[in-house]
Amino acid sequence: MWRVRAMFLILISSGKLLSNSCPIELSPSSVVVRFGDPVSVNCTTSLDEFEGMGWEATEGGTSSKREIKMVTWSVASLKTWSIQPICYVTMSDYVQCQQNLEVTVYKMPDTVSIWPSLTGPMEAGGLYQLQCDIRNIAPVRNLSLTWYRGNEIIHTETRDNDIATPQNESFNLPITPEKDDDGIQIQCEVQMNLGISGPQWTPIKSEPFDMVVYYPPSFISPLPEILDLAVDDKPILNCTADGNPQPYYRLVSSAGYVEATETKAVFRLSSPLLPGTYNCTAANRMGSATKVFIVQNPPKNITQLEDTELEVGSSSTLKCFSEANPPPIFHWDYYKTGNVEVTYVAGGSLLHIKKATDVNIGNYTCIVAYALKNISHVARVTVKGANSQCPIEITPERLVMPYGGQTSVTCGNSTEDASRNMIGVFWRVGQRVVNGAQWDVEKDTDWDLRAECIATFSGIGECSKRFDVTFYKTADNVLIHSMGHTGPMVANTEYQLQCDILNVAPVQNLTVSWYQDNDLNDDQGSLRVTGCPHQNMDCASQEIKSPVNVSSTIKVSLERNQHRAQFRCEAQLALEQQRPPPMMSHNLSLSVYYEPIINSTKLPSSVPVLSGYPVELVCEADGRPAPNIHWFSKKGVRVSSGNLTVTEAGVWTCNATNVVGFNIHEVVVVFKEDYLPLIAGFVAATVLVISVVFAFFYSIYYKNTKMRHYSLKNPKLNTQNGNVAHNSWDSPLPMTKLC
Ligand SMILES: *[C@@H]1O[C@H](CO)[C@@H](O)[C@H](O)[C@H]1NC(C)=O
Ligand SMILES: *[C@@H]1O[C@H](CO)[C@@H](O)[C@H](O)[C@H]1NC(C)=O
Ligand SMILES: *[C@@H]1O[C@H](CO)[C@@H](O)[C@H](O)[C@H]1NC(C)=O
Ligand SMILES: *[C@@H]1O[C@H](CO)[C@@H](O)[C@H](O)[C@H]1NC(C)=O
Ligand SMILES: *[C@@H]1O[C@H](CO)[C@@H](O)[C@H](O)[C@H]1NC(C)=O
Ligand SMILES: *[C@@H]1O[C@H](CO)[C@@H](O)[C@H](O)[C@H]1NC(C)=O
Ligand SMILES: *[C@@H]1O[C@H](CO)[C@@H](O)[C@H](O)[C@H]1NC(C)=O
Ligand SMILES: *[C@@H]1O[C@H](CO)[C@@H](O)[C@H](O)[C@H]1NC(C)=O
Ligand SMILES: *[C@@H]1O[C@H](CO)[C@@H](O)[C@H](O)[C@H]1NC(C)=O
Ligand SMILES: *[C@@H]1O[C@H](CO)[C@@H](O)[C@H](O)[C@H]1NC(C)=O
Ligand SMILES: *[C@@H]1O[C@H](CO)[C@@H](O)[C@H](O)[C@H]1NC(C)=O
Ligand SMILES: *[C@@H]1O[C@H](CO)[C@@H](O)[C@H](O)[C@H]1NC(C)=O
Repeated sequence: MWRVRAMFLILISSGKLLSNSCPIELSPSSVVVRFGDPVSVNCTTSLDEFEGMGWEATEGGTSSKREIKMVTWSVASLKTWSIQPICYVTMSDYVQCQQNLEVTVYKMPDTVSIWPSLTGPMEAGGLYQLQCDIRNIAPVRNLSLTWYRGNEIIHTETRDNDIATPQNESFNLPITPEKDDDGIQIQCEVQMNLGISGPQWTPIKSEPFDMVVYYPPSFISPLPEILDLAVDDKPILNCTADGNPQPYYRLVSSAGYVEATETKAVFRLSSPLLPGTYNCTAANRMGSATKVFIVQNPPKNITQLEDTELEVGSSSTLKCFSEANPPPIFHWDYYKTGNVEVTYVAGGSLLHIKKATDVNIGNYTCIVAYALKNISHVARVTVKGANSQCPIEITPERLVMPYGGQTSVTCGNSTEDASRNMIGVFWRVGQRVVNGAQWDVEKDTDWDLRAECIATFSGIGECSKRFDVTFYKTADNVLIHSMGHTGPMVANTEYQLQCDILNVAPVQNLTVSWYQDNDLNDDQGSLRVTGCPHQNMDCASQEIKSPVNVSSTIKVSLERNQHRAQFRCEAQLALEQQRPPPMMSHNLSLSVYYEPIINSTKLPSSVPVLSGYPVELVCEADGRPAPNIHWFSKKGVRVSSGNLTVTEAGVWTCNATNVVGFNIHEVVVVFKEDYLPLIAGFVAATVLVISVVFAFFYSIYYKNTKMRHYSLKNPKLNTQNGNVAHNSWDSPLPMTKLC
């Protein structure tokens, strides 16, 4: 044996031996064996010729054999923790090779048990450790430990070392127990993993460890509980609280009276304890919790509060009473003013209104507050002869502004009382709601903007005030023209002048003034809206706010002396706060035509003619444009234009015409032959008396003035443009001088 060993050492040092090239096979190649169990391993060689083979081991070794090809290492009860058998074969040339057998000796633990770091119950929230002790386990190879909380895995840990002998192993689990952990079982489970060839043994669980956690009492529903005596006149107070250890209970009434200190949690109340507020305190060594029970006889009815009508200046008291036990708290909701005072009396409240005014009109709500339940009743106060006002004030009061401008309007409380009672305020602009007191008038808005400020006040509720906005726009243009007529006008004929005011708003506040020769015309004309923005709209109605076209018409009838009269119109927006500059039209100059007027003073209806002496009939006529003069005979034959010279008796007609009309004048020419001898005789007698003296002068004079002109002096002419037609006739005698 010693020889073999020495040889083996030599071989190792020469480095010639490789175990895998050693022609021996172990079956099984490695063993896992329980301490004390039998074990056997066959070692076989593939060599046909060898010197010998055998097992070398502290237990169960064999001598070297040469006749058989298999040697068995076998131990009836393996009681060594660490053993390393070697199978060797010695070949013919004294070369030896060998193979080690890996033997794992294991042992199940004696006990697996849990120990707390401290004995006794744990306190909720405290820091503790649980220890899992594994006694006498071998080997501690790939040892895994699992912690269970009930069935739930809470932690896993592994441990590994090379020691083959049995060991005591401890695993620690730090814990902070909670209320929920009370009564929970904790277990630890150990498992050895010895590889595929190892035994498949079920893990070993410790005995369960029962957690006992102490925690302070708590109520499932900690909110105050109301017990209504109307429902049950012997109410049950269930004060059951959850706590460990079992809490003890103490019931204290609102009067301070200690009702009980017991372990029972349910109390049945009956008089004389009733009613009131009860505090039930559940306590244990961990702490305490208190639950409030309100045993109430709630108010069912508000009495004596009635609608009231007051005279202005009179006083009255509203009463609000309600029975409840314990006594309720009374509140009033109303429009609070300086002349109202609230007082409290046993079982009720009084509201005094002194010297009532319109501000006292409103709803007065008495609220009876009782624990978690309120009841209320409303009384309406009216003041005779007074109307309630919506106490809001809009600044500015109204708005007149050019369209397109921007500004803001504020709606606020009108009095200090109002601000005290105001609950909310908003604007309604058209269909839109603007929250808050301020409304910013925007640039592109409706022309017809309907704005309203709506506020809510206690006691009054919602009330509103309308707000008027007037957008204005001055006219784009103002045009004047005569209507249905062009050119000059005929005197004393009625015409219409129209003034067109384009794109102006609001039409309701438009005034149109007419001026004639810079003097304001009495006739302000009649307005008519022509430029309607929507076709189906009634533009004549007063409601239109958007820009429209407007026409004003006046009737004019001019005298002939009003030729070249100047007309103009002026459009002015008459607005309350603003007065935009007026818009004026240009001056319209009007020409006046009139029909001819024959001046009959100049042309008598009867004109004498002396035989042999032609007479020139001058027909003068005034008219615009200048009239044409024509003479007609009685038979209607046109005899002359302009002047007419007649030599015989007859009826002649002067027809003066212009575009406006005509005027005729009839002249009767009378033949004056009969008077001639008489005149001649008178003349002859006179001649006879003074012929001698004045013969010479008389003859010269008569020769030179054979023909005389008959005419009226200075016919009145129209200085401006009047044309006068003249006609004249010769008189044989100086008649005017004689007559
Ligand atoms: C070893 O060999 C013997 C004889 O052939 C056999 O009975 C036995 O089962 C073998 N043992 C092993 C572990 O193979
Ligand atoms: C430990 O267990 C793992 C997984 O089962 C295995 O792969 C590993 O070889 C084992 N280690 C030992 C030393 O047995
Ligand atoms: C394991 O614990 C037991 C009991 O305390 C003891 O008798 C034994 O010697 C311990 N084993 C080791 C390896 O410490
Ligand atoms: C009191 O309350 C507890 C928990 O809320 C409940 O379990 C118990 O049955 C109640 N007792 C009575 C008498 O109502
Ligand atoms: C009952 O508890 C409340 C708070 O929960 C406390 O305000 C009240 O004073 C207590 N009443 C009595 C009678 O202890
Ligand atoms: C309220 O009070 C009046 C007068 O006291 C009584 O007639 C009425 O029945 C009461 N209503 C209720 C609901 O209790
Ligand atoms: C409106 O109320 C405000 C504050 O709420 C106050 O400062 C203001 O004076 C009140 N206006 C009037 C007109 O009383
Ligand atoms: C006032 O009370 C009457 C009923 O009493 C109610 O109809 C009305 O809406 C109330 N008004 C306000 C503003 O609260
Ligand atoms: C427009 O005219 C009416 C009556 O002519 C007047 O009441 C109103 O205040 C005027 N509007 C404005 C904005 O001035
Ligand atoms: C005068 O003249 C106008 C225009 O020529 C004519 O229409 C009218 O009939 C005349 N009048 C008379 C009485 O002849
Ligand atoms: C007509 O002529 C006379 C004399 O010239 C004059 O006094 C008178 O004013 C004239 N009448 C008219 C209407 O022109
Ligand atoms: C008619 O007579 C007047 C006066 O004698 C004269 O001025 C005028 O020119 C005459 N008209 C015509 C057309 O001859």
